[in-house]
Amino acid sequence: MAEGSTWGVEPIGPLRGDVTVRGSKNAITKHMVAALLSDTPSVISNAPEIGDVDITAQMLRALGVVVRVEADKICVEPPVIGGSRVPLEFTGLNRIPILLVGPLLHRVGEAFVPMVGGDRIGTRPVDFHVEALRQLGAEVEQTPEGLEAKAVKLRGARIRLPFPSVMATETILLTAVLAEGRTIIENAAIEPEVIELALFLQRMGAHLELRPDRRFIIEGVETLTGANHRLNGDRIEAFSYLVAGLMTGGEVRVHGCPQGRLITAIATLQGMGATFEITDDWLLAKADGPLKTAVVDTDTHPGFMTDWQSPLVVLFTQAEGMSVLHETVFENRFNYVDALRAMGAEAELYNNCLGSRPCRFRETSALHSIVVRGRTQLRGANITVPDVRGGFAYVIAAAAADGPSTLRDVHHLERGYHRPLEAFAGLGLHINRVA
Ligand code: EPU
Repeated sequence: MAEGSTWGVEPIGPLRGDVTVRGSKNAITKHMVAALLSDTPSVISNAPEIGDVDITAQMLRALGVVVRVEADKICVEPPVIGGSRVPLEFTGLNRIPILLVGPLLHRVGEAFVPMVGGDRIGTRPVDFHVEALRQLGAEVEQTPEGLEAKAVKLRGARIRLPFPSVMATETILLTAVLAEGRTIIENAAIEPEVIELALFLQRMGAHLELRPDRRFIIEGVETLTGANHRLNGDRIEAFSYLVAGLMTGGEVRVHGCPQGRLITAIATLQGMGATFEITDDWLLAKADGPLKTAVVDTDTHPGFMTDWQSPLVVLFTQAEGMSVLHETVFENRFNYVDALRAMGAEAELYNNCLGSRPCRFRETSALHSIVVRGRTQLRGANITVPDVRGGFAYVIAAAAADGPSTLRDVHHLERGYHRPLEAFAGLGLHINRVA
């Protein structure tokens, strides 16, 4: 997964076959952090082999925690925590350091975490996290290098999130479970990966419940015990492979992701003319005729998730007519579109809210809506991958192009997808790492 790695892609026509997805990037890393809340071991299985797990494991080891990776199992053994400072070398590598603040405050009483990174898909501030940690009793200072925090005692609080942020909800859960008294999170994120983390914490002994109105109620406990969990399948990967099949006129059967995690994705693809076969173990999507256009707003769960957006926009190039995608979660998530245009896509970006309702980015200059006119035969191209999801969308586009493509900087992509080269090769695509 070296920085600067390049893949070559030669289209072969319809992609057909089976793919098994493992647990998701956005769940495994959080479970590894949650394990620090106890001094007994936790084991998380069905873990993906991805760059973000390596980064997170190295971060935990830098804090003196033993992390063992054995096939698809990750064992985290934190009997003692050897330090409170995440080294600066982890600056900008992913967004996980911010989640470590709460657990480090509980275990060591203080924390330093460097500036978080992740994909450049918006300004991505951490103000909700900082404000929530302060409400829970931490002293938090933002420095040019990162966050310095300390706490003598963390206490429950009523916290209303201005937007149902996934990781801010996770910061509060990871801090409130051991804080004294009751915490209420209003306007909480309820993405399946957040619920999966909450269930893991409950398994560790946390007292928490989810109310129907996006509220978590957490009663702090004195101690937690390590737990075991088998991760559910990654809904972003599952959707992406289903789209890869549709994009090339083939059919891909995806194993390992429960149907319930894909309800909105399935409905959206059905609206475009795809038909599904669904069993308890797998889902298969195919289209017998031309694809139809769609108008889609991204949203928080259970809406159409923002991470499904780039594969869907690529698929719009194969629908007959004009399709619209309105991105309402991140203001700058179309940085992959220039390269898609270079491949022949007819796509225009707008700062208007072109979906079914206005969003937080109305009246800003953020180009957060796209209109795509299909159907277009895409051309192969030399592309630099901008981020994890945009990168995967390029592979899908390259698989349906009329000539070979090269994709540079695929390390972005390998941060979040389990063995993508093998998975695509298993579907028949000619895809190789090139020198
Ligand atoms: N926001 C703030 N202040 C904050 C936190 C968030 O203004 O303190 C804003 C963000 O700028 C954004 C919105 O709230 O406009 C929602 O962001 P959220 O906090 O929900 O995103 P996140 O927690 O940083 C996670 C995933 C993303 C996924 C989003 C939305 C991880 C590591 N990342 O990000 O995944 O798109 O939730 O579901 O869990 C990816 O995997 O490629 C990825 C970007």
